[in-house]
Amino acid sequence: MERHVPVMLEEVLEAWVADPSGSYLDATLGRAGHSRVLLERFPEARVLGCDRDAEALERVKRETDAEHQRRLRLIKLSFSELDELAERFDGVLFDLGVSSEQLSDPGRGFSFSRPGPLDMRMDSAAGPTLAELLAGIDEERLGRLIRDYSDERRWRRIARAIVDHGPYTDTAELAAVVRSAAGPSGRIDGATRTFQALRMAVNDELVQLERGLNNALDLLAPRGRLVVIAYHSGEDRLVKRFLRHRSGGCVCPPGIPACRCEPREELRLLWRGVRTPRDEEIAVNPRARSAKLRAAERLESGRDGR
Ligand SMILES: C[S@@+](CC[C@H](N)C(=O)[O-])C[C@H]1O[C@@H](n2cnc3c(N)ncnc32)[C@H](O)[C@@H]1O
Repeated sequence: MERHVPVMLEEVLEAWVADPSGSYLDATLGRAGHSRVLLERFPEARVLGCDRDAEALERVKRETDAEHQRRLRLIKLSFSELDELAERFDGVLFDLGVSSEQLSDPGRGFSFSRPGPLDMRMDSAAGPTLAELLAGIDEERLGRLIRDYSDERRWRRIARAIVDHGPYTDTAELAAVVRSAAGPSGRIDGATRTFQALRMAVNDELVQLERGLNNALDLLAPRGRLVVIAYHSGEDRLVKRFLRHRSGGCVCPPGIPACRCEPREELRLLWRGVRTPRDEEIAVNPRARSAKLRAAERLESGRDGR
């Protein structure tokens, strides 16, 4: 099995696991990098691993030994559907975005360096593909989408170029058009930001995240931990706002005369602000470079007195 390096592993385990014999939910199982180490280090702990990608779950099943299989249950589920679970967890982990497996398999359509179908769905059985999204969008909406889901400054030019040159046979052809409209982008590939924005739109990632966080809070036992790694500023803003609001902070826009957001005191932040990976980790795992880790603990009694 090729080595998979989970992002901010030590920091995540420290935040996620408060009870060594507890029950944990990994809402973004991926390659089960974090969950596998949790099971190794805590022989009494159990994990429920969820992912919306059926291929990821199949792979984890193949790669899991019998002892871990006894303590690792797997369910195909989007985190917007976590409310279907009728159990309590001592910790819930979200390690957001796509996995290296999804990115590096050209057949999934996430890659801008190798040609693949215009797909980009994490769940290959649901929702519109990238080709369908591009077929039904006009230049203005596409531009706004690129602007809102990435920090791409040339969103207008890129949207115009994408609409003018389509339809596309594969992701490499689309990437070439994006790159030439984006112009030089320093060290990163000129298609990176736009591909990220398109992926976030295809998978409805911010809506999923908002629902996922709300669902997770309802599944947490008292003193259970909510741990989130975000890789994009839009995602991290949403996580920060959610944690602030649910730990009693006001999230109303500045300048309004009286608070209208009704803060709830259900969580306690485990630390202020955000934690980021150490330089040594980024040196060996460049995927970690944009990671932002936040975590909170559920108070003894939540809004329904649990
Ligand atoms: C960064 S990877 C997780 C990596 C994992 N922590 C590990 O170390 O192996 C993110 C995973 O979350 C899944 N995912 C993303 N959005 C999801 C959603 N809304 N519901 C369920 N799974 C999702 C992706 O399919 C992907 O497998």
